[in-house]
Amino acid sequence: MNKLKHLWPYMLRYRWMLLTGLLCALVGAGVEALGPYLLRLAVDDIQAGAVVPAVLLRYGGLLLLVALVSGLFNFGRRLLIAGASYRIEYDLRHDLFARFMQLDQRFYSQNYTGDLMARATNDLSAVRQFLGPGISGAASSLFTLLAVAALMFGVNVALSLVVLLLLPVASLVFFLIGRRMRTIFTHVQDQFGSISTRAQENFSGIRTIKAYAQEEAEIGVFADENRRYRDLNLGYVLLSGALWPSMALMLGLIGALVLLVGGQQVAAGNLTVGELVQFNGYLALLAWPAIMASWMVNLYQQGAASMGRLLEVLRREPAVATAPDSHAVGRLHGEIEFRDVGIRFHVDEQQKTMNDERGTLIPATSEVTQSAVRSSQFEWVLRHISFRVPAGTSLAIVGATGAGKTTLVNLLGRVRDPDEGQVLVDGVDVRELDLAGLRRNLAYVPQETFLFSVPLRENVAFGLHGEEPADVATQLDRAVATSRLSNDLSQFPDGLDTLVGERGVTLSGGQKQRVAIARAVLRDPALLVLDDALSSVDTHTAAEILASLREVMRNRTTIIIAQRVGTVKDANQIIVLHEGEIVERGTHQELVRHGGRYAAMYRRELLESELEG
Ligand SMILES: Nc1ncnc2c1ncn2[C@@H]1O[C@H](COP(=O)(O)OP(=O)(O)OP(=O)(O)O)[C@@H](O)[C@H]1O
Ligand SMILES: [Mg+2]
Repeated sequence: MNKLKHLWPYMLRYRWMLLTGLLCALVGAGVEALGPYLLRLAVDDIQAGAVVPAVLLRYGGLLLLVALVSGLFNFGRRLLIAGASYRIEYDLRHDLFARFMQLDQRFYSQNYTGDLMARATNDLSAVRQFLGPGISGAASSLFTLLAVAALMFGVNVALSLVVLLLLPVASLVFFLIGRRMRTIFTHVQDQFGSISTRAQENFSGIRTIKAYAQEEAEIGVFADENRRYRDLNLGYVLLSGALWPSMALMLGLIGALVLLVGGQQVAAGNLTVGELVQFNGYLALLAWPAIMASWMVNLYQQGAASMGRLLEVLRREPAVATAPDSHAVGRLHGEIEFRDVGIRFHVDEQQKTMNDERGTLIPATSEVTQSAVRSSQFEWVLRHISFRVPAGTSLAIVGATGAGKTTLVNLLGRVRDPDEGQVLVDGVDVRELDLAGLRRNLAYVPQETFLFSVPLRENVAFGLHGEEPADVATQLDRAVATSRLSNDLSQFPDGLDTLVGERGVTLSGGQKQRVAIARAVLRDPALLVLDDALSSVDTHTAAEILASLREVMRNRTTIIIAQRVGTVKDANQIIVLHEGEIVERGTHQELVRHGGRYAAMYRRELLESELEG
């Protein structure tokens, strides 16, 4: 349970702040407890007939002073402890984000984005709540209880026992109602999550919804979710409305008992009226800690649970990382070799990947997954892959969708590591190379382009730091020309400075691909990988881009994945992947002569272009 001990290193950094805060809590509680004592002295003096304005003024002044001093220290307590809690939250969030950035594809294919977001927001906030209001409240409650108990027993034991034995009952009532409220609140939160997901999916899928005229149906589904949310909230309101009145009832009950027992003691001459007043003051001081106690328990439990969820990320070691005795990497020549490489995916990863693609949220424990896991744990996606690409030459990979082409090229930049065999660059296993160095030598144009919501220019120059701005500017123009993005610049309001994304322009699929190509070319890599990077570009533009890429490709090793023969026919060697294995290899001429899958693909394309012609 005690996950919270992992907060120590963070807390130690702010130990002086926290300790001073605790000291403030101690002084604040001690001074506050003097209030009822002063009141007793005043009442007893009044009773003794010493009602001189000067005396009353003095007591009044002292009471004011007590309020002022205790208020000041309580202010200091909150300021210091809350301040430390926000600083620790900052540190934790920083470490969490850094870890998120280091973690590899396997981690991301095992976890849902929404869940990771929840850790970075809700869980972090729960830990902060424990550190701030939790510690601060617990300290002030504890010190108040100690100070008041010490003063109370000094006055009257029987009355003290009444108060101290009954207050926990009030805490219990608060705890029970509070617990029920939390359960409902969790449901409310979950339901809110469902509503948000629903709305978000509808916004992203609005074109599909309209195309299939599903507006009414979607409104109906949303209305059901919305109704559930309302009903849960109404249940919550009922409980939260009852909470404070039941607390007031409990405290009223204890007050009545104090009056009953205390009144008899006064009558018997064991207690002065002032002392009875003093007790009432203590009761008021203790009410808050009694109420807070269950809240503290809750903050502690939630903080511990959330810290556990944060630790799952913070302690997770990236499966892909630079080995301790790795080789530094300068400029690579670019020779690539795959030796009997095999890769398999765990079934739960596959299930999750499929869910992601469908954009739906099927929990990982659904029946489908469980039966899949039972039937087979692993599935080989690539097996016995061997080939060599001499430095400066090109390799093309063709194959049906799902054949494993993307998985294969991902091994080069160590998006993941092979489960069998070796991937070598310049004769060295990539696992022995410095990871950042290796990736600096590699430019990858992925199948699905990702653009950031920044100007086009920054999207192209992504990942370039420290270079001379003037150099970058000329190279950037060249990269934009190579990718033929230059043809479209006049369509954008501010040319290369046009903002991309939700608050900027929306690029066509082909335009996005060309931004990605420009981005890759600008890096001047030793290894260039194009994963179906021309799929959304028309054949004419594709040919143009290929012609200018030929210039770029001259001194580097290139891997091109494509579905069109036109894109791959000039490559130095072509391999055909089928169900995770290489089934044909050779040059365009050789493969056409061979008369296998490649030749069939070529014939089909010729036929298509004839038909079009
Ligand atoms: N992260 C992953 N987790 C689990 N399975 C995966 C993952 N990535 C790919 N796969 C599976 O591996 C197989 C090969 O996928 P890959 O993306 O390499 O195919 P591809 O040849 O690039 O196809 P396409 O031409 O459609 O891009 C597929 O069956 C896919 O479901
Ligand atoms: Mg692919």
